[in-house]
Formats: sequence, structure tokens, C-alpha cells
Amino acid sequence: MATDLELIEETLELAAERVDDLVPLVYERFFALRPDVRQLLGNDALGRGRMFNETLKMILECAQEVAYLEGIVEREVQDHQGYGATSSMYASYFEAIVQTLQTTLGATWLPRHEAAWRCQLEHLNSVVIRHAGA
Ligand code: HEM
Repeated sequence: MATDLELIEETLELAAERVDDLVPLVYERFFALRPDVRQLLGNDALGRGRMFNETLKMILECAQEVAYLEGIVEREVQDHQGYGATSSMYASYFEAIVQTLQTTLGATWLPRHEAAWRCQLEHLNSVVIRHAGA
């Protein structure tokens, strides 16, 4: 049986075959879910790309059950406190990523992909809440 890590990687590979750049799609979805973050986030494509790459790395590390997950989430949450990022904004951002992949993959997005993403994001969200508060 495929692991969550393998299933998540599979969705990212399938998405890469379909779109050149997921970043604008994810941000568009993020702003649709949370219009209030538009004013917090800059318009700089490079910064957005870096933030997205770091987030994907964190999700993959979560699925690999790395021992240092707690530490990197804590640092990221601390770094973001000055930006006004709240727990529920992280949840919306993660949701925007799943929804973007789901839309991009269409019929190739399977229930097992959904389950793998949901399970890992639920875990990651719980770690964020531990550091950012509910
Ligand atoms: C786990 C989730 C997240 C990770 C790993 C992450 C990571 C990063 C990184 C690496 C940067 C620096 C980008 C650069 O080099 O310019 C950044 C910037 C920033 N992040 Fe996040 N971020 C996350 C979630 C969020 C959320 C939910 C918000 C909510 C508003 C947010 C708001 C910002 C802002 C305001 C900046 C400043 C740069 C800009 O205006 O684009 N981040 N983030």
C-alpha cells in the first residue's frame, strides 16, 4: 500500500505535468478563501514562490515524520508573528493548496490522494495550533 508521502509526491508530479507554476493558482485560491490576507502578503512573485516551496517541504517532512518537524514549525510561526499570520490563516493556506491540486488533477485526483493530504494537513495544523494558538 502506498504511503501518504508517496501519494502526496504523486499528486505533485501529476500537477507538474499539467501546469507550469502552481504558485499563482494557490495564491488566488488562498485570497478567495481569505480575502483579508491579500493586504498582508506582498506582490513579489519570488517571495511567494519561496513561501510555497518552504510549505511543500514542510508538508513532505510532516509525511516523513521527521523528528525536527516541531522545531521548524515553531520557527516559521515565530517568524510570521510580525506579519499577523494566525492559525486559521495557516489552515486556509493549506486548504488552498489541496483545493488547487484537486482542481488541477481533475479526474486523476483520487480518494486516496485526498485522504493522504487530509491526514497530513490535519497533523501539521495541530502542530501550528500548538505554536500559534487556536
Ligand atoms: C507553513 C506555512 C508557511 C510557510 C512555510 C511560510 C514560509 C514563508 C517564507 C519562507 C517566507 C519568506 C519569503 C521570501 O523569501 O521572501 C514567507 C514570507 C511571508 N509569509 Fe509565509 N509561510 C507560511 C504561511 C503563511 C501564512 C498562513 C501567512 C498568512 C498571511 C503568511 C504570510 C507571510 C508574509 C506576509 C510574508 C512576507 C513576504 C510577503 O509579503 O510575501 N505565511 N513565508
